[in-house]
Amino acid sequence: MNKNWGAIDRYAKSLIKEAGHRIRVSFYTEIDVETKSSASDLVTNIDREIEQFFITRIRKDFPDHRVMGEEGFGDTIESLEGVVWFLDPIDGTMNFVHQRRNFAISLGIYVDGIGMFGYIYDVMRDDFYHAAKGEGAYFNDERLPRLENTSVNEAMIGINASWVAPNPRIHHEPVIELVRSCRGTRSYGSAALELAYVSSGRIDAYMSLRLSPWDVAGGIIIAGEVGAIATTMENEPLSLLGQETFIVAKPQLHEEIIENYIQLKG
Ligand code: IPD
Ligand code: CA
Ligand code: CA
Repeated sequence: MNKNWGAIDRYAKSLIKEAGHRIRVSFYTEIDVETKSSASDLVTNIDREIEQFFITRIRKDFPDHRVMGEEGFGDTIESLEGVVWFLDPIDGTMNFVHQRRNFAISLGIYVDGIGMFGYIYDVMRDDFYHAAKGEGAYFNDERLPRLENTSVNEAMIGINASWVAPNPRIHHEPVIELVRSCRGTRSYGSAALELAYVSSGRIDAYMSLRLSPWDVAGGIIIAGEVGAIATTMENEPLSLLGQETFIVAKPQLHEEIIENYIQLKG
């Protein structure tokens, strides 16, 4: 990594820590909660303020970089050329609103579509997951070991209960079969934290039938550094340009889940 990249890495880490502090302080103020596309799609003034905080700083200090942010204060990204920062200022807004914990800041920095730095900050636990391409992944200051394989029947799988009910996005029958055959399921309500948990071996896979680039861009860099595989449920590479189905898992487990899914959906 050249010197400039090291400086960008340090810059991003300090920005995230400062944003985390701002979020914790926000609990002493009144938080306005609004719904977006549905009653379960929440946004608050804090999501917006934190995104603006990042974007103002990044635009000032790196004017030629572009930012894709969930709340729309960034750039319209139609190609991954150049340096692109993918930001979710609060991933797990429902948890932020209802629980005041179990949410994260998620950030990924890409150069010409290649993930260079990934960060997930569990704000209330002050747990920081981060990785630089080719240099391993870390949980706080501890290097995360490469993942060992697990078969479906011994696996804990991160999955939201909505995906086992009939839904317009995917074939739910193969998902029911997966839920029946695995050791257990968990649902944490933050895609970024679920990616962090796969990376640190607390769960073995995480899947979702609809995620956006800012939900996963940081996490897949961290997961990739410990050997996890992330693709769509059709086993295609992620485009990071729009909403997609998503799975991240230990390599053999990824293969087993995808094969069963594709075979059972017919
Ligand atoms: C959501 C969370 C949730 C996932 C949703 C995401 P948000 O992000 O990651 O776990 O199931 O699909 O949209 O809206 O809280 O940033
Ligand atoms: Ca999100
Ligand atoms: Ca969000």
